[in-house]
Amino acid sequence: MLLNTPHNPTGKVFTREELDLIARLAVQNDAVVVTDEVYEHLAFDGRPHIPMATLPGMAERTVTISSAGKTFSVTGWKIGWLHGPAGLVAAARAVKQFLTYVSGGPLQPAVASALGLDDAFYIGLAADMQRKRDLLCAGLRAAGFEVFPTSGTYFVITDAAPLGYDDGVELCQRLPELIGVAAVPVSVFCDDKESTRSLVRFAFCKRDDVLHQAVDRLTGLSTRT
Ligand SMILES: Cc1ncc(COP(=O)(O)O)c(C=O)c1O
Repeated sequence: MLLNTPHNPTGKVFTREELDLIARLAVQNDAVVVTDEVYEHLAFDGRPHIPMATLPGMAERTVTISSAGKTFSVTGWKIGWLHGPAGLVAAARAVKQFLTYVSGGPLQPAVASALGLDDAFYIGLAADMQRKRDLLCAGLRAAGFEVFPTSGTYFVITDAAPLGYDDGVELCQRLPELIGVAAVPVSVFCDDKESTRSLVRFAFCKRDDVLHQAVDRLTGLSTRT
């Protein structure tokens, strides 16, 4: 079973009850859970991120993946790690060996050093990102977007239909030219493209002055064609 919490693009953070259900099903079906928790330190509003491997009976059947990219704001570095039962980790290492072999070798000591930072760093990261979320979401709402709640990651999904844009792909293609803001159509994440046609994902992992500028520019969107 593949799991991603906190989830990109929805910003959903799975609750203990939801994880319990998934864990029960995994045990019943003797399944392995591969869980992508790269946004583990970006959960908001006091919601805890609960690692699947910490649930009873799950450590021996869970492979947990994380990444320096999200936690230390170095997305281009492409350095991550996984942990789990020795046999599964060995299998993952064999695949890695034949695919990309290594990533950013000279940067890896920096990541190892950053992993030693104390809790205050991680708490500050989430608080800062939550504030940025609130800033961008308020701006998006004021600009006329419907804004869906996001409890984790640094993404927010919006509906551009209230602004008169019912095709997210087309809007995202035009946004840089129209107002100098970039976003991603949610339909690119989905098999069922129709149900997400007018949805657009924005990112708030930006400097405050950039977010303020984006909000100003987005406010002018409803008057553009
Ligand atoms: C859910 C999820 N997993 C994994 C990754 C990959 O992380 P990295 O670029 O740090 O390898 C991303 C990046 O966007 C992501 O959103």
